[in-house]
Amino acid sequence: MGWKAIRRGGAGWAAATALALVPAAAAAQPPGAVPVAVAIETEAAGPRIGRDIFGQFAEHLGTGIYGGIWVGPDSPIPNVRGIRSDVVAALRALKVPNVRWPGGCFADEYHWREGVGPTALRPARLNASWGGVIEPNGFGSHEFFDFAEQIGADAYLSVNVGSGTVQEAADWLEYLTAQAPTALARARAANGHAGPYRIKYLGLGNENWGCGGAMSADHYAEEMKRYAHYARNLDPAQAAPGAMKRIAVGWDSGNSDYTETVMKAWKEKVWSWDIEGVSLHGYTIPNSWERKGPSVGFGEDEYAKSVPATLRMKEWVARQSAIMDRYDPERKVGLYVDEWGIWTDPTPGTNPGFLQQQNTLRDAIVAALNLDIFMRNAARVRGANIAQMVNVLQAMILTDGPRMVLTPTYHVYRMYVPFQDASLLPVRFDAGSYRHGEITLPRVDAVAARDAAGGIWLALVNVDPERPASVAAALAGVRPRAAAGELLTAAAVDSHNGFDRPGEVAPRPFAGRAEAGGLRFELPPKSIAVVQVR
Ligand code: AHR
Repeated sequence: MGWKAIRRGGAGWAAATALALVPAAAAAQPPGAVPVAVAIETEAAGPRIGRDIFGQFAEHLGTGIYGGIWVGPDSPIPNVRGIRSDVVAALRALKVPNVRWPGGCFADEYHWREGVGPTALRPARLNASWGGVIEPNGFGSHEFFDFAEQIGADAYLSVNVGSGTVQEAADWLEYLTAQAPTALARARAANGHAGPYRIKYLGLGNENWGCGGAMSADHYAEEMKRYAHYARNLDPAQAAPGAMKRIAVGWDSGNSDYTETVMKAWKEKVWSWDIEGVSLHGYTIPNSWERKGPSVGFGEDEYAKSVPATLRMKEWVARQSAIMDRYDPERKVGLYVDEWGIWTDPTPGTNPGFLQQQNTLRDAIVAALNLDIFMRNAARVRGANIAQMVNVLQAMILTDGPRMVLTPTYHVYRMYVPFQDASLLPVRFDAGSYRHGEITLPRVDAVAARDAAGGIWLALVNVDPERPASVAAALAGVRPRAAAGELLTAAAVDSHNGFDRPGEVAPRPFAGRAEAGGLRFELPPKSIAVVQVR
């Protein structure tokens, strides 16, 4: 099949809905398949998709740390220095770029000194933010850095601005990073780590408009400047400006006050402080905060509501970027979406404060659509951290005692690994529409990138749960022979992996065929594909 006509829409390359190519006929398509034409600009130099867009988040919340990551050295569950080996092996396959820790809301009630030194002497506290359970402090700084090293990730540490002090944060940084033999550096060495730890990101508080102290934006900005100045990284190897990136708190879903105030302060800053990023927290809530909706056992109605709830991320990123552009047109400060993901009602029978939910094919599609938004906006979005890593909210992994299962979201993260540090290639397509009742949504999504070795990668999502999509991809200046990769789909939108059925939602090999100088892909309903062009 050839191309009958080529027509360019008026919108720029970033506009995914602009009509680019119209296939002449829909030959050899599966019955009911919707034709979709995708045009990839292979020669354009798009922004680098920073690997930190695929970051994760591990908070002291429910069984996210205790049970999910940390089982202790005496556990019968195989572990290395208390960190469970099955979880580490699974996470290594995702090439997790960074892990944000210890929270979340928990970060603003965390006192680091309680988590170092002999375990038996560490005080038990209440985790007031999450379930009111005992926080034993068995997993502290050394255990976190050990975990990050075991999975090959950088550390993203959030300091306590809400209930801590600037001195406490400065001491933590000295403890972790001082090379010179200060008292705190010697204490670190005595606790088992002679050299400094590397900190790639330092979060200056968390949601200080809410759980982090309910501060006004102006009040937070004044506090933030003090933390940005005094919480110094003392390792000469990390002393270069910006080597440890400081992330200030930005907006909550719907309110830009923090971003506006922080960016204005940054524009007017004096020599003594700086930041390299501003955060954005935005969750996918299918219904309302009070009644979010079930994580499993739902049908197309719930699915169709979840997709627009997640596509709001596009507008949130655009609004924050517009504010940042006003103060920082050179894009020196990055936007870090350091909490995002789908948030549903907790699994019935679990502690509601543990935020435990099932993870379905719907959630995999939510993950792919969000990652696509972040990648498309990579010029400003330098990092993102899905909430959360294990057993909490939109998790990669669920555990139950010694058992572990990989979620559909995990599979998306593994399939998207080739996009880490690749260069974005402009893509044009007519997304078409998927309609359900009152809801109308873009039917397909597509992102392309070129990796460091020159390979071209394409991610495709068919949002429509009923109709297949027949995608014809044209690559400017390239005559592909084929494309091969993986496809993720399942029987139902709420299909998920149970401990007894771990393979219900699993990637399978997927290929595109060469056709009329381009590529043809038959995408099943509700599916995600990632392929490399050959
Ligand atoms: O991810 C769960 C919680 O959501 C975090 O602790 C908090 O920052 C956000 O409100």
